[in-house]
Amino acid sequence: MTSPLRRACIMGHKIAYSRSPKIHGYWLRTLGVSGAYDLIDLASPDFPSFFLSLCAKGYVGGNITKPHKEVAFELVSRREEAAEAIGAVNTVWCEGTSLVGGNTDWSGILLSLDHLYPGWDAKAGNAVVLGAGGAARAASYAFCSRGLNVTVANRTRGRAQALADQFGGNVSAADWDMRDDLLAGCDILINATSLGMSGEPPLSIRLDRLKPDAIVYDIVYVPLATELLKAARRRGHRTIDGLSMLLYQAVPGFARWFGVTPQVTPELRALMEADIATAAPAP
Ligand code: ATR
Repeated sequence: MTSPLRRACIMGHKIAYSRSPKIHGYWLRTLGVSGAYDLIDLASPDFPSFFLSLCAKGYVGGNITKPHKEVAFELVSRREEAAEAIGAVNTVWCEGTSLVGGNTDWSGILLSLDHLYPGWDAKAGNAVVLGAGGAARAASYAFCSRGLNVTVANRTRGRAQALADQFGGNVSAADWDMRDDLLAGCDILINATSLGMSGEPPLSIRLDRLKPDAIVYDIVYVPLATELLKAARRRGHRTIDGLSMLLYQAVPGFARWFGVTPQVTPELRALMEADIATAAPAP
């Protein structure tokens, strides 16, 4: 007897660039799962009705990307604690006919660190998060969940302060201009801004004060080797790039929809590296 086809999708608008279908398609193929992962382009007026009937349409869940994330956050029947705290839903799944909203960015950050640098959080320590948008909130949530102290530096200080106020005790806000100085005592630095992305201004930061054993993480993946990562590697730091985050954040969604926990294999990574090298930059 063949198992029924399980179907998930990514919902967004003007998302031809999305790499999620390639990632999930690879896992479906290589794991022999009877499933599909569709790309559904929806203009804003069409999103709510499609989204609310996702389960009735036979989907087991999906990803939500721009410009629908905020609406999805409001429309789900229930949100997981992490999604609630981060203030963003990027993954949903059906419980009966109800949609549950989750966030996999924070777990993607932790899964990548745990796989690439096991024990990285053994001493907890101090994290510096650059930015205060959704990615920075996910990073702050991730590091707090492992007991690190987090300092958030953002161009708009008020957004960093709002993040610190919401997350409480272990998170503090700092002026953007202080970012070089914050690196003394920092165990993990993450760039969660759009700076350094192809088409965006560069990230200007001096790594001189960073401890030799500190990890440098950049969420930007176009280009794959950002100036930040190149500078960190020249200094001998352990680094993680945005492709790792992209790949590992896809793991929990796939596991939930298709019932198999997939692996981020060297082959998958190589496929995506080739895709990034040849395709137009993702916006
Ligand atoms: P996301 O939700 O994807 O993380 P976002 O909310 O647009 O995206 O956040 C982008 C981050 O990059 C913000 O922290 C932004 O700083 P502001 O809050 O001041 O806007 C940061 N960023 C973008 N351009 C920047 C620049 N030129 N200099 C410094 N920070 C910048």
